Amino acid sequence: MKRVVLMGFMGAGKSTVGKYLAKELGCTLIDTDQRIEEQQGRKINQIFEMDGETAFRDMETGLLKELKNQKGDLVLSIGGGMPVREENRKLLQEIGTVIYLKTSKEEIIRRVEKNQDRPLLQGGNLEEKVDSLMKAREDIYIQTAQIVLVTDKKEVCEIAEEIQNRI
Ligand code: S3P
Repeated sequence: MKRVVLMGFMGAGKSTVGKYLAKELGCTLIDTDQRIEEQQGRKINQIFEMDGETAFRDMETGLLKELKNQKGDLVLSIGGGMPVREENRKLLQEIGTVIYLKTSKEEIIRRVEKNQDRPLLQGGNLEEKVDSLMKAREDIYIQTAQIVLVTDKKEVCEIAEEIQNRI
């Protein structure tokens, strides 16, 4: 059975790689942010604004519990903050092979700077925000992942191929 979880910082390319990989493997793709937005009928930004981050994190945990019981091949692309909760880390590892898409700070900043959709990066100094969140999360990503894959300067198809060779 092929069950792959794509983890990494905001802007690491989880959704893009997920789409490509799911097509290649011929399996279902679930993007947790997208699924939560569908379930809630609201954008992530609105959920953060109206209910706060803790409520969003509860939604993420609830979704992982649902997905744990879903059978069949799966590519799961998750929100960057999902593994910060210990409970979520366990659930992710139970769902599938957790792959950390590791991307440099410079590349992340380039990718997220024009995007207004990420509540944790809005307002203030973007570089400082990315830097402190990355520092807080790097160890968590490393400890949670079974496979670490550096994505800088790689095309989506190369990353997907590397994943297929290693799972
Ligand atoms: C978050 C990442 C976002 C989204 C939310 C919080 C985070 O997903 O879940 O804005 O805490 O890193 P992406 O990683 O897909 O941007």
